[in-house]
Amino acid sequence: MRKTFYITTPIYYPSNKAHIGHSYCTVATDALARYKRMRGYDVIFLTGTDEHGQKIEQKALEKGVTPKNYVDEISLEFKKLWKLLNISNDYFIRTTDISHKKTVQKIFRNLYDKGEIYKGNYKGWYCTPCETFWKESQLNDAKCPDCQREVQWAQEEAYFFKLSDYSEKLLSLYEKNPKFIQPESRKNEMIQFIKSGLEDICVSRTSFKWGIPVDFDEKHIVYVWLDALTNYITALGYTSEDDSTFKKFWPADVHFVGKEIVRFHTIIWPAILMALDLPMPKQVYGHGWLLFGDGTKMSKSKGNVVDPTILCKRYGVDAIRYFLLREIPFGADGLFTNHALISRINSDLANDLGNLLSRATAMIEKYFSGELPTEQKADVLDENLIKLSREVCNSVENSMDEFQFSSALSDIWKLVAYLNRYIEETVPWNLAKDPSKQGRLARVLYNLCEAFRIISILLAPFLPETSQRIREHLSLKSSTLSWGDAKVWGLLPQNSKISKTEALFPRIDIEKEIEALNKLL
Ligand code: ME8
Repeated sequence: MRKTFYITTPIYYPSNKAHIGHSYCTVATDALARYKRMRGYDVIFLTGTDEHGQKIEQKALEKGVTPKNYVDEISLEFKKLWKLLNISNDYFIRTTDISHKKTVQKIFRNLYDKGEIYKGNYKGWYCTPCETFWKESQLNDAKCPDCQREVQWAQEEAYFFKLSDYSEKLLSLYEKNPKFIQPESRKNEMIQFIKSGLEDICVSRTSFKWGIPVDFDEKHIVYVWLDALTNYITALGYTSEDDSTFKKFWPADVHFVGKEIVRFHTIIWPAILMALDLPMPKQVYGHGWLLFGDGTKMSKSKGNVVDPTILCKRYGVDAIRYFLLREIPFGADGLFTNHALISRINSDLANDLGNLLSRATAMIEKYFSGELPTEQKADVLDENLIKLSREVCNSVENSMDEFQFSSALSDIWKLVAYLNRYIEETVPWNLAKDPSKQGRLARVLYNLCEAFRIISILLAPFLPETSQRIREHLSLKSSTLSWGDAKVWGLLPQNSKISKTEALFPRIDIEKEIEALNKLL
C-alpha cells in the first residue's frame, strides 16, 4: 500500500476577501502536497473556510444579508482564488457543511457524556454594544478595549472544556515528540504558556446565534475553536458511517498554521483529541507573517498592492507563487513589497531562468532545425554539470523534508546559475561556426535541454505552469511527473524535437510598473 500524507492549512474566516497572507500559507501547503504526490505518496490536502461566529454574524448584518448568504459569497471567492493560484487541494471544507455540523454535535455530546465538558458560568466584564466579555486585565482604563465604552460585570451560562486537566499530558506530548511543534522557538513559547497555568475554556455561547447549536441544549452555540479545529477530522469522515478515509489518513502529518494560532493547535487541539482518545497530529508548523510596508501584519493600503488576484493577473500565477515561496524562509516573518516582487521576477525568473531557456531552444532551432542530432561529443565540463544536478536533487529533498521552500528554490537556482555559466564557457555560437565541432555543439545543447528536463521536474511543486511550459518545449509528456526521473541523467531522447520559446517571464520596467501600481492604490 502507498504511504499516506495528510496536510492541512488553517480554515480561513470568510469575514473579508481572501488576501495575500492566506495565499502565502495555501501556496506553501500546495507545494508540499504536490511534492509528496510526486514522491509517490497518497496525499490529502485540506483547506476550507471557518464560517461561524459573532464577527461574521455582525458583518452580514451590516451588509443587510443573512450570515449564510454572506459566507456563501466569500467562501466562493476563496475557492476561485485557489483555482487561480493553481492550488491542488483534494477537499475544501466549510464549517457550514451539514456533515461537519452533525459531527461537531456528536463530538460535543461525546465530550459532555465523558465529563470532559461541563456546564458553568462565563463571567467577566461585558460590553453590550460589542457583545464581548473581557477579563479585568484586558480592559482599557476600565472600558471596553475595542470601543472604549462602559462595561458591566456579567455572567452567562456556558459550557466549558476541562483544558486545565491537560497541562502535564501536553508537556509530556512535546517531550516525547520533539518535532511536534516547529519551528523550535514556538515550542518554547507554548511550554511557557502551559507552565503559567491553563484554564478551562468556554466552548459554548448564548449571546449569538450564528453557529452550530448544542443538540441537547439548543440555546447554546458551539463556540468557535471547538467548531473550527475539529474540521481536520470531520473532513475525513470521522464518526460517519464510512470512516475509511479517516482511518486511512488520520493522524495528520502536518498542520500548517500562522504563528498566531499555534497556541490553539498545540494546546487546545491535542487536548480535545486526547479527550476523544484519538491519535495526535504528527506536527504543527507555525509559519511567519508577511509584513507590509510599515511592519504591520496586514493592511488594506500600506502603499503596496496586495490583492492576489490583481497580482496574478499582472505578473502570472507562477511569479506570485515563486515570490511567496522564495522570498521568505518558511517560519520567519518577511516583508512584502511590490518592489521586491518585481525585482525577483526580473532577476530570477525573466533573466536567469527564462532567458536561458530561450537562448538554448533558439540555438537548437537555428543550428539543428529544432532536432538534436544523435551524434554527440562529451567533455569534462559535462561531468560537473551532471554531478551538480544530482547534488541539487538531494539538497532540494533535504530542504523539502524541513519545509524550507525558499532553500529548495535557491538550490534549484544554483543549477540555473551553473547553466548560465556553462553557456558562457562552452560558447555554442562559436562551436557552430566550426563544422568539425558539430558533435560538441550537439552535446552542449543536449545538456542544456536535459538539465531543463530535470529543472522542469524540480520546479513542478512550486511553479506547476512553468514546469509544463518547459516540458512542452522539450516535447516531454507531462501527465505524471515522477520525482525519481530528476535523479537520472540522460532521459531526454537524443533526437527530441525542441521548439523555440517565447519569454517565460517578460521583463518588467520596474519604475514604470511601480508608478502604474501606485495609481491602483
Ligand atoms: O485564524 N502573513 O482564520 P484567518 C502570513 N479561522 N500568513 C497570514 C497572514 C499574513 N499577513 N494573514 C493571514 C483563522 N495569514 C481561523 C483559523 S484553523 C482551525 C482556524 C494566514 O482567516 C496564516 O496561515 O484569520 C494564518 O494563521 C491564517 O491565515 C489565519 O486566517
